[in-house]
Amino acid sequence: MIKKCLFPAAGYGTRFLPATKAIPKEMLPVLTKPLLQYGVEEAIDAGLSTMAIVTGRGKRAIEDHFDVSYELEHQIKGTSKEHYLTEIRDVINRCTFSYTRQVEMKGLGHAILSGETLIGNEPFAVILADDLCDNHEGHGVLLQMVKLYEKYQCSIVAVEEIPPQDSNKYGVIAGEFIDEDIVQVENMVEKPDPKDAPSNLAIIGRYILTPDIFDILRETKPGKGGEVQITDALLEQAKQGKVIAYKFKGKRFDCGSVDGFVEATNYFYNKA
Ligand code: G1P
Repeated sequence: MIKKCLFPAAGYGTRFLPATKAIPKEMLPVLTKPLLQYGVEEAIDAGLSTMAIVTGRGKRAIEDHFDVSYELEHQIKGTSKEHYLTEIRDVINRCTFSYTRQVEMKGLGHAILSGETLIGNEPFAVILADDLCDNHEGHGVLLQMVKLYEKYQCSIVAVEEIPPQDSNKYGVIAGEFIDEDIVQVENMVEKPDPKDAPSNLAIIGRYILTPDIFDILRETKPGKGGEVQITDALLEQAKQGKVIAYKFKGKRFDCGSVDGFVEATNYFYNKA
C-alpha cells in the first residue's frame, strides 16, 4: 500500500524573513519541535516509513535534524536532559530519509515532479509541513486518508471549508458529494478570486497521489503565478473521475503565515 511520503521543502519562506534566511521554513519550531518533524510524525502514524524530502537551500539543517548527533548524544547521556531527545530518536529509528534538490523554483507541481526519483512507480502521500494538523481522537489527517485510499484507490486531496474571501490563497475544488465527507472532484482551480471560486472547499497540504501524476506533471504548463501547479495536474486526473476530496476530521493551522503560526503555538502550548 502507501509507504512513501513526499515533503516539498524548498520554498523560500519569505514571510518569515529574516528567520528563514539560513534555515528552511519547515525547520521553524512550534514549541520545541520543527514543523517538518510534526509532518514526519503524522506520516509515521499513518503507517508510512520512507520519507522523501525535496529541498532547496538549507538542506543541511534538515538532514542533520533527522540524523544522530553523536556529540550531543554523548554530552547528555545519563543526564536529566536525555528525555528531550526521546521523540526525535524514535522518529529516526522508525523510518528512512532520502533527499533530492529542486534545482529551480518552478512551483509545487514542479517540486513534486522533482521527487519522482525518490518515489518511483507507486502511490504516495504528500505533506506540506507548513500546514500543521492536529489529529482527531488519535487519528491523524494522513491516516484518515490512507484508510480512504484502501477503498477508493485514486488520488485524494484533503479539504476544509474556508471563508469565501480566502479563496485566492488555496486550490479550490468542486464536485458531487458521494458520501457525507467525500466529494467526487469535477473541477479544481488554483487560487481563484472569490467571485470565480467554484465552492468554499479549499485544498490543504495533504495529498495522496497515484504515480501517473508524474507523467501529467511533465506535460503541465505553468499556471497561476507562472508556476507548475499540482492543482492543474490533479484536474486532469479529476476529469477521468480519479480524484476525491475528503473533508478531514481534525484541526489545521496555516503555519505559512505569522498569524497561523502564533495560533498553532498557542494551541499546542495550551494542549501540552
Ligand atoms: C499550495 C497549493 C494550494 C493549496 C495550498 C495548501 O499553495 O498550491 O492549492 O491549497 O498549498 O496549503 P501554497 O500555500 O504553497 O501557495
